[in-house]
Amino acid sequence: MSVSYVQYNGILFPQMSISEDFASVENEFQVRDDDIFNVTYPKSGTTWMIDILSLIQKNGDPTWTKTVPNWDRAPWIETPGSVEKLNLSKQCPRLITSHLPIHMFMKSFEGSKAKVIYTIRNPKDIAVSLYYFAKMSAFYREPESMDTFIKYFLSKDVLYGSWFNHIKGWLELQGKDNFMFQTYEDLKLDLRGSVVKLCKFLGKELKDKEVDSVVENVSFNNMKENTMSNFTLLPAGYMDHEKSPFMRKGIVGDWKNHFTVAQNEYFDKIYKMNMQDFSVKFPWDTNTH
Ligand code: A3P
Repeated sequence: MSVSYVQYNGILFPQMSISEDFASVENEFQVRDDDIFNVTYPKSGTTWMIDILSLIQKNGDPTWTKTVPNWDRAPWIETPGSVEKLNLSKQCPRLITSHLPIHMFMKSFEGSKAKVIYTIRNPKDIAVSLYYFAKMSAFYREPESMDTFIKYFLSKDVLYGSWFNHIKGWLELQGKDNFMFQTYEDLKLDLRGSVVKLCKFLGKELKDKEVDSVVENVSFNNMKENTMSNFTLLPAGYMDHEKSPFMRKGIVGDWKNHFTVAQNEYFDKIYKMNMQDFSVKFPWDTNTH
């Protein structure tokens, strides 16, 4: 099956997961001051954060995460039908997901008090995760090999645009009261501590037992079993979990099981070129991640 891509503002998107009327998403969608945005580059921990935020919102009660699919709890704003869904939503605050680069984000976000949690992950692990996702989902063209996929991932033609531009753009908001960035690696290292920090940022006071419930319900194994989180409820044709499950491994450093020495050196070279003047340092910059 041929997979179509479309371009907006110089960025390629899978045709089936971008609204046909993208201009109205960008220009007309009204952001509310109490909206909470879950923003990521694909494969950085988007669905993990949806469940964390859903459970925090419900004070650790898992009823919502166990009965409503993640795409209804926190719709991807750029996908077809999401604006209509969010405009009708009675949920308060609204949880909204997005993979958009900042220069394409909704105009009404500027000056609003809406909060953004930006989750960021080692791009080498993203490349591996995306490679398997591209094999199992109908959004991406089938990758030929890890070698060609790494080159594609580091090129300007990659869907959703370059990882480097995405993170640099969003991290310009660092220091603003309504912006927080969270690494996937810190979620893995200290999930409870990260949940407590997120609660503080969101102005939510959860009791210890409620935080325990958030942590338990967002464990990899529990989310892998939860049909509201693991995408097995998507209509047939979107994802083939036989090829690779959406909830694949959920680990830090899987790139080491996939990259050859030469691929790693090539990645490091491009990473260095793009990041040498960037002041923010990440867990994978300073240790063996
Ligand atoms: P892997 O393919 O490396 O396993 P996204 O939601 O942004 O598409 O990211 C998907 C990645 O996040 C997948 O990575 C998936 O397994 C991982 N993930 C999802 N939920 C997780 C959880 N509860 N704990 C750890 N990793 C999780």
